[in-house]
Amino acid sequence: MKVVNRIEDLKRFLSQEREKGKHIGLVPTMGALHAGHLSLVKRCVAENDICVVSVFVNPTQFNDKHDLETYPRTLDKDCALLEPAGCTYVFAPSVEEMYPEPDTRVFDLGPVASVMEGPRRPGHFNGVAQVVSKLFYIVEPDRAYFGEKDFQQIAVIREMVKQLGLPVQIVDCPICREEDGLALSSRNTRLSPELRKKAPLIAKTLKESVAKAAGMSVKEVHDFVVNTINQDPDMEVEYYEIVDGNTMQPIQKWSDTDYPVGCITVYCGDVRLIDNVKYNKQ
Ligand code: PAF
Repeated sequence: MKVVNRIEDLKRFLSQEREKGKHIGLVPTMGALHAGHLSLVKRCVAENDICVVSVFVNPTQFNDKHDLETYPRTLDKDCALLEPAGCTYVFAPSVEEMYPEPDTRVFDLGPVASVMEGPRRPGHFNGVAQVVSKLFYIVEPDRAYFGEKDFQQIAVIREMVKQLGLPVQIVDCPICREEDGLALSSRNTRLSPELRKKAPLIAKTLKESVAKAAGMSVKEVHDFVVNTINQDPDMEVEYYEIVDGNTMQPIQKWSDTDYPVGCITVYCGDVRLIDNVKYNKQ
């Protein structure tokens, strides 16, 4: 495994690989890797000859300066996990390397970005589109791997790829969970032991709502999820939207879509957790 900091170096290595006919997979990350990331790496290694993992805390997608400053940076530990996972290249550029000049590109990502996380984190998806498009131009991957925990992010990236006409296949990978159901996230380490015990209520409630959904309207399922979670004084649902899993648009009735997905954001204490669940077509 090689750790590469410079764009030119990575491009040179990868063009040599491509000349040998190798297929390249990319797993974009912001580091602080956990088993969820490693499941993406595992899949990337299995489906490609070369696995590139980028580790870059992208400043343009943070709308909260404190969040950017306190984001964990653990490159040595990340590399120690990536090597045995079969990663070929770790791309770990500096901010100056990725953004020698400010990235002034403004993406119009349309309806998929205008709901849920979009209005609540202004500039976030534009920053994601900036960095992921740059990574795609640098790495020119055949496939790129993203976790379904950030369900809306995948839709936004697909839209960006379509608009730019990039020849990359986006592969979405299922959420990895702790044994008690909590979706893996770098933010889980910010939970106090007491809140950590409470956080699985989110996944548990979503799962229960799937079992109940058959006899209920969309609104009833929505209200069940919100009310159940909000009963805990330490938990506050920021939003719960049941959407069409392709367009991200909220549905009113089950027949509005073949692919209903519930997307939730909950404050557990002051830690913002996200999760989602797929409902059966009704
Ligand atoms: O999901 C993330 O970790 C980031 O948004 C990504 C895709 C690596 C872009 O910085």
